[in-house]
Amino acid sequence: MNRAQGALWHHKGIIQAVGPTDEILSRAGKDAKQIDCQGRAMIPGLVDPHTHMCFAQTRENEFSERICGVPYLEILKRGGGILNSVDSVRRASVQDLLKNTLEHLKIALAHGSTTVEIKSGYGLDTENELKMLSVIELAGQKAAQDIAATFLGAHAIPREYKEHPDQYVDLIINEMIPKVADQGIASFADVFCEKGVFTPEQSRRILEAAMEHGLTPKLHADEVNDLGGGAMAADLKAVSADHLLAVSPKSIAKMAQAQVVAVLLPATAYSLKKTYAPARKMLNAGLAVALATDCNPGSSYVLSMPFAIGLAIMQMGLSVEEALTAATLNAAHALNLARKVGSLEPGKQADFCLLHGETPAVIAYRAGVNPMAAVYKKGRLAAST
Ligand code: NIG
Ligand code: FE
Repeated sequence: MNRAQGALWHHKGIIQAVGPTDEILSRAGKDAKQIDCQGRAMIPGLVDPHTHMCFAQTRENEFSERICGVPYLEILKRGGGILNSVDSVRRASVQDLLKNTLEHLKIALAHGSTTVEIKSGYGLDTENELKMLSVIELAGQKAAQDIAATFLGAHAIPREYKEHPDQYVDLIINEMIPKVADQGIASFADVFCEKGVFTPEQSRRILEAAMEHGLTPKLHADEVNDLGGGAMAADLKAVSADHLLAVSPKSIAKMAQAQVVAVLLPATAYSLKKTYAPARKMLNAGLAVALATDCNPGSSYVLSMPFAIGLAIMQMGLSVEEALTAATLNAAHALNLARKVGSLEPGKQADFCLLHGETPAVIAYRAGVNPMAAVYKKGRLAAST
């Protein structure tokens, strides 16, 4: 077997050096403990920059309806979908939500995700949005991963505001955002800008208020319909615009100019049976493309970044290198964490995975099984299969 030669030296959870094995061994000195990686490919720990994995109950019945042709937004319009998850999250205790979130994080870790973003957005009132964010904070203390928290009070119009959506927008702006900022429990604010959900005008108002309170904007943009979400994200200098299945070439150009990361969610296109986002057009326009699972009980109950990477390679035309960069360094940029994680460079955290294969291509090649042999977080073995 033609084994690649290479080694990584880490100390106290931080990468010291990466390079040819002989060189690294002599630099690390004979006292350093050596681990033989047996010719396995080593990749940076994966970064999942867009999830809704804090929820109370799955929605398998809706999935069955959708594969028979009922549209995702139709289910939301008749009071199901996200609103269904809101009912169960409002009833759930902090303990139950934490248990579910930690179970999800454990599966994600086994599949290589060493950094994960989690959104609120199933509370849709001040008390329950704060409850979700406190669960996400607790999960960050208990889980092996680094967790980034996003406030998504603007995920849907709750039933009680169906006839007065602007009053709900006011509640988000005047009550929720100040409290979230006060408690310091979220870094980002996000809005689901979509037909029948939040209009571009409402989305802009919410994100501008969030920015005034020190939250960094993100946007669920142009997922089902092109509402110019990508362009608005560029205007607001959002750190990322996510989904983008229906994004226009004009928005792509604006995003590239404003250096907004395009977070693509191929597992959602898979689950909604939609056409994948135009990743090649984005790359050609100079956009930084990232990948995420979007793990949520509705449009993508997927916790596996390798599955998203495989879809990106096989269905979206990304090369193995492009897909891997999208799932690591670019994903870290989408969370403003690229100084700390996302690549195997001296000074960054020793977050890395060993694959059941010689090259990262095995992630797409050996589809449907977990390609992770071992997952290390801050230099410690965190999961193995
Ligand atoms: O990113 N599109 C909006 N929000 C999620 C789905 C949430 C849900 O259906 O529970 C998404 O796809
Ligand atoms: Fe989402």
